[in-house]
Order: sequence, then C-alpha cells, then structure tokens
Amino acid sequence: MPRPELQAPPEFFYNETEARKYTTSSRIVEIQARISERALELLNLPEDGVPRLLLDIGCGSGLSGETLSENGHHWIGYDISQSMLDVALERDVEGDVMLGDMGQGLGLRPGVIDGAISISAVQWLCYADKSSHEPRLRLKAFFGSLYRCLARGARAVLQLYAENMDQSEMIMTYAMRAGFAGGVVVDWPHSSKARKAYLVLTCGPSLTNTSLPKGKGEDGEMCSDSDESGHDDESQTVGIYDRNRPRKKLKVTKKGKGKEWVLKKKEQMRNKGHNVPRDTKYTARKRKTRF
Ligand SMILES: C[S@@+](CC[C@H](N)C(=O)[O-])C[C@H]1O[C@@H](n2cnc3c(N)ncnc32)[C@H](O)[C@@H]1O
Repeated sequence: MPRPELQAPPEFFYNETEARKYTTSSRIVEIQARISERALELLNLPEDGVPRLLLDIGCGSGLSGETLSENGHHWIGYDISQSMLDVALERDVEGDVMLGDMGQGLGLRPGVIDGAISISAVQWLCYADKSSHEPRLRLKAFFGSLYRCLARGARAVLQLYAENMDQSEMIMTYAMRAGFAGGVVVDWPHSSKARKAYLVLTCGPSLTNTSLPKGKGEDGEMCSDSDESGHDDESQTVGIYDRNRPRKKLKVTKKGKGKEWVLKKKEQMRNKGHNVPRDTKYTARKRKTRF
C-alpha cells in the first residue's frame, strides 16, 4: 500500500469511512496511545501536578489528545479533516477541537500554550496537494505560528513519518529557522516497524534541561511490537541543533575614501581633459548620514 500522503489530501483521505476505521482499530488505538505517552514524556513538563494547556496538532479523532486528558492536562486539538473531528466530538473528547490547516499557521495568541504534541501528522506538509501549495512556505507558516504561540521555554514534540532524508532535513530546517532549538530522538532505531522519530523542539531559552534524552533501544535492544501505520521512516540521524533564528544584519558603516583620494581623482580627470569643478573647502566634506 502506498503511504497515505501519496493517496489523497488529508481532508479527503480521512473521510467518514477512514475516520471510523482508524478510530475503531484496536491496534491503531494502542499504537497512537503509546506514541502519545512517549511524546508527553519528551515534553518534559514540570512534575508539579499543575494542569497545562497543550496543543495537539493533527489531533484527528482525539486518540492522542486522550492521553493528554488522562494525564490531567487541558488541550486544544487542530485538524484539517472534518470527518476526524466529527468522530472526536462523537467520542466526547475533553479537548476543544478546531478545524484548520496547520500549513496556514495556527492563528493562536502569542505565548499562551505550555507545550505541543503532534502525532503522525506533520509529514503531510511535505506534499503539495493543490497548485497553490508550496511545502516550504507551509512549513514556514506552521513552525512560525507554533513558535509564536508557545510560552518561552516550552517544548513541542512532533512524532512524524518523513518519507526520506530530504523531507526530514526540510522539516528540521524550517523548525530551526522559526527559532526553535532541538533535535531528533529516535526510538527503536534498529527495528523497521517499531522505529519512531520525534522532533523535540524548545522555544526560546529553555527554563529546563535542553539536552535531548536518549532514544529507546539505541543500544541495540529490539522492540517486540510491530506497527502497521503504513509508514516506513527512513531517516537515520539523531541530530542536535542549536537555535538558528537568522540574526539581524549588523550595520556596516562605510568608510569614506578621504579628501586626499578625491583630490587625486579630480586631478586625474582634469589631466584627461574633463571639466571638473574647482577644489574648495567643501570638497570631499563628510555628509550627514541622513538628510
Ligand atoms: C495519522 S492521523 C493522527 C491523528 C491523531 N494525532 C492520532 O494520533 O490518532 C494524522 C492526522 O493529521 C491530520 N492532518 C494532516 N494534514 C493536516 C494539516 N495540514 N492540518 C491539520 N491537520 C492535518 C489528518 O487530518 C489526520 O487526522
């Protein structure tokens, strides 16, 4: 079976039938819950029992959001598929769900979100489903808006299924350009089925420890579970990247060439027979930078 992303745009792929099939498969329910638990762990929220306001990007029918509720947090879910959100509402999930395309930006107020997870969704941004879609611009809009709505020091943990290294790099590049610091944590790197890549991003200066945790099974231990998500994740790197928001250009003050140089040039022009204004006390004078 080709990857879901190659079959149809997400709002059509996750139609009524697929949304129900997805949510009633005990296998998928179990896998998504496990990935969401791990994403929550990687969010590294303070263990003080205070409920946090979290974002679930590409929340679908609420399987991932349920893990957030079970751990005592409030959440806002964001998804492009009306059918997935209908199932979420039918299931009476505790989060507030919104219909929207993350590729157009999240449109949330700055600094209000304590953390974000996204489970099996962000790779969809790498595919142009319409002639107006430019994956790079969509990633830029997404990561820019995600960075803005997160509180400083908050994390976003995005589990995704990149199709190849180019996609992984493109996603990482746009995350870094938005101002995030972070890297990729890969669990079960030696298992083709259980392998999971999590992009762990920190917004601005981190208030907690920024070093990335080790991926599960990195030391060769194998995971017995397999995963029928329909995705093969080919990325092998565990990269650690620094905050890379483009710095403001430094002002370069141009040094003038000096009176001596101007006088010499004028003399040369005169010698060539050109009509050159006479030298005065104003010749080569320093002008104010602004008029
Ligand atoms: C594999 S499902 C995962 C759903 C949920 N996170 C879970 O763990 O069960 C991927 C979800 O991403 C959503 N999605 C894909 N592209 C999206 C976009 N551009 N904006 C918002 N949601 C999107 C899909 O509609 C779908 O519900």
